[in-house]
Amino acid sequence: MSRDLKIEFKPFGGSGNGSVVIFVRDDLQPSPKAVAALGNGLSELIARAAKAEGFKGKYLGSMSILTPSDMAAERLVVIGLGDEKDVKKFDWAKLGGASIATVSRGTAMIIADFPGDSAEPENIAEMALGACLRNYRFEQYKSKKKTGESKQEHLAKVVFAVDDVDAAKKAYKDVEAVAEGTILARNLVNEPPNVLFPVEFASRAEALEKLGVEVEILDEKALRKLGMNALLGVGQGSEHESRVVVMRWNGAKSGQEPIAFIGKGVCFDTGGISIKPAEGMEGMKGDMGGAACVVGLMHALAGRKAKANVVGLIGLVENMPDGKAQRPGDIVTSMSGQTIEIINTDAEGRLVLADVLWYARERFKPKFMINLATLTGAIMVALANHYAGMFSNDDILAEQLALAAETTGEKVWRMPVTSEYDKMIDSQFADVKNTGGRLGGACTAAAFLKRFVKDVPWAHLDVAGTAMDSPKNEISQTWASGWGVRLLDRLVRDNYES
Ligand code: BES
Ligand code: MN
Ligand code: ZN
Repeated sequence: MSRDLKIEFKPFGGSGNGSVVIFVRDDLQPSPKAVAALGNGLSELIARAAKAEGFKGKYLGSMSILTPSDMAAERLVVIGLGDEKDVKKFDWAKLGGASIATVSRGTAMIIADFPGDSAEPENIAEMALGACLRNYRFEQYKSKKKTGESKQEHLAKVVFAVDDVDAAKKAYKDVEAVAEGTILARNLVNEPPNVLFPVEFASRAEALEKLGVEVEILDEKALRKLGMNALLGVGQGSEHESRVVVMRWNGAKSGQEPIAFIGKGVCFDTGGISIKPAEGMEGMKGDMGGAACVVGLMHALAGRKAKANVVGLIGLVENMPDGKAQRPGDIVTSMSGQTIEIINTDAEGRLVLADVLWYARERFKPKFMINLATLTGAIMVALANHYAGMFSNDDILAEQLALAAETTGEKVWRMPVTSEYDKMIDSQFADVKNTGGRLGGACTAAAFLKRFVKDVPWAHLDVAGTAMDSPKNEISQTWASGWGVRLLDRLVRDNYES
């Protein structure tokens, strides 16, 4: 569970008595609003502390000062904004995260006055988002305090001092839904696999009904009737039943064609009969990161009442070795009618997506489809955890995604999904085989998906490197980043809302 962080806005003036956060460029000069709140001695206080600590006002650098007794504020946190010539555009979310990084109790007041930049309300809201994401921890499985230990303290509230309180509040209302959606995705990915199996995952998705999302859960009987044998084959070795969940948010005119987001939800991936090595296998609880992102995105869109018709679909299975498990050599008939030869039961994500993509296409005739999947180790070999791999049959969609990635900092790098890779997955016994060999593994996986998308504008985001085991940074201190919620919310907001 996340630690709740209250966000408030108030006009400039006064400093309160907790921690106060202010911003300086590399000349270390405090802004007029900071001086007004903290007094004329501020400039000298910063200069002395900076000298003692070697603080140079570098972008996103920080220094923490215990204040003299004549200041109401107990602690002063100074955040660097760097050289005005070098840092022209701030990453506002990261600034918000950096602002609270060293405040571990009580209230932080952030004096939102930035030398050389007049922050828009949207920027302030982004800072609040960054603070919430930074503050997130996943701790509910830590059995609490030994007797005698006091309840662990943590930051409880952030107050932003701003020019226009109403405008900031209004901007934050939308952003708050995105913060919640990201945190929801993180929670799902962080959950252990004995707790979050397909049926449980589906019921977490069902909770979106509170926000006005229509949720439909397809059980195995329904999936069999639809002919989703590729998906069912992956789950057949597990004691846990498989599910597909369909989530619909209708924020635009009825009848307007929807956009569709599809997520790989392998709640645990042992590899199946082609079993994975033991080391690091515990991380495969995160193999539902794509599905978690889709659920988090639906929460964000519904929470801010996005003016778009959106459908989210997730394929939920557990990939286990068992007497009933699928074998290498098996041939399954997918819902599309295409037959698939299973070469490696560990290439299971594409089998799940094959059926869900086809179903999305047939049932909803979407304007476009974007799927997210922790699909291949190969994408991490290519891009490490810095970018998600983006594969697309549509230049406009790819361009829109690239722009949204630029804005949010959830970066994508386009990879090829051309006919050369398609040839590599021709099978001698069936229409297609589920692996294309060691070389170009991320590209042949994408080529496989493409056969189930056909001509619908589509993008596949391989998030194996970005959804889990994430590096800690200004806005994430946890294993599961919640990657993609902000990116796709931005894509919808900038391109598909009437
Ligand atoms: N879930 C894995 C991919 C993965 C690996 C995600 C590491 C995150 C971290 C996927 O199902 C898988 O096992 N892919 C195989 C495909 C291969 C058998 C063709 C892989 O990448 O090795
Ligand atoms: Mn696998
Ligand atoms: Zn997998």
